[in-house]
Amino acid sequence: MSLLIIDSTACKGCGICVQACPVSIITIMGDAKIPFVSDEKEKRCVLCGHCESICPESALKHTLLTGMQPLKENKLKEINPENIGEYFRSRRSIRTFLPKKIENSVLEEVMDVVRYAPTGVNRQMNRWVVVSNAQTIRQLGEGVIAWMKAMIPVNPELAKRLNFVGLVTAFERGNDVICRHAPHLVIGYTEASYSAGSKDNAIAASHLELLLPAFGLGGCWAGYLMIALQFSPDLKKVIGLDDSYTVHSALMVGYPKYRYFKTPQRKEAQVKWI
Ligand SMILES: Cc1cc2nc3c(=O)[nH]c(=O)nc-3n(C[C@H](O)[C@H](O)[C@H](O)COP(=O)(O)O)c2cc1C
Repeated sequence: MSLLIIDSTACKGCGICVQACPVSIITIMGDAKIPFVSDEKEKRCVLCGHCESICPESALKHTLLTGMQPLKENKLKEINPENIGEYFRSRRSIRTFLPKKIENSVLEEVMDVVRYAPTGVNRQMNRWVVVSNAQTIRQLGEGVIAWMKAMIPVNPELAKRLNFVGLVTAFERGNDVICRHAPHLVIGYTEASYSAGSKDNAIAASHLELLLPAFGLGGCWAGYLMIALQFSPDLKKVIGLDDSYTVHSALMVGYPKYRYFKTPQRKEAQVKWI
């Protein structure tokens, strides 16, 4: 079967699908100007769905993609430079959480949206561990501290740069500077062999952080946990991962205890305009 089914009565031969295809496999055939993908080129399709998604006449169906959802135009009109900018600027790293679990259905909905983040060649290799068990979260925090203690003599330069001594001291005094008493952790990883894993996963984790406020939630990158999971195979075992996987992100997630009323200043954008 051909990769594309074209409704020739609706297709105007405009060629927008040809321009939208990221791997340039669509050509316009014959006098009727019907989009077509040869058997040979078909294998290069990355299943991104842009061809079907962009067709203004709804004349093109990609045979390997199902469930293409029409956009809710009215909702998208609510997104404009002013309110999306305000939303981005108002995002804050949340480090104090209510002692309340997030309903599974809400977390599932969030993770369902995150899978629409861009990935290299549309590979969609991101995987996640959602940790909601308080004991496991504690175990991970303690594991990070044990790893830091072991690293202080082995890699004093790293230990100094990341203030391991200060973090260990604070943690042992009861201040959970690693997981911040978060009710959930979301840890992102990919197969270790996947070369774009760190980029794809960090982008998706960033989408996740930005999505949370829309659900009444908040989050913060758990950078120390992320680094320890990258360096310590023993810690990785706590979340059921072996050497065939690499952790790329970790976020603490929960209901924020406080809200913020101001946007702090940030450095000027450092952009070279060429
Ligand atoms: C890769 C990365 C790792 C981070 N790790 C931690 C962390 O381990 N603990 C923490 O409290 N904040 C962590 N943060 C949050 C930053 O400190 C925070 O983004 C920064 O202070 C700016 O605050 P804002 O996010 O509210 O704008 C991390 C952020 C990033 C991007």
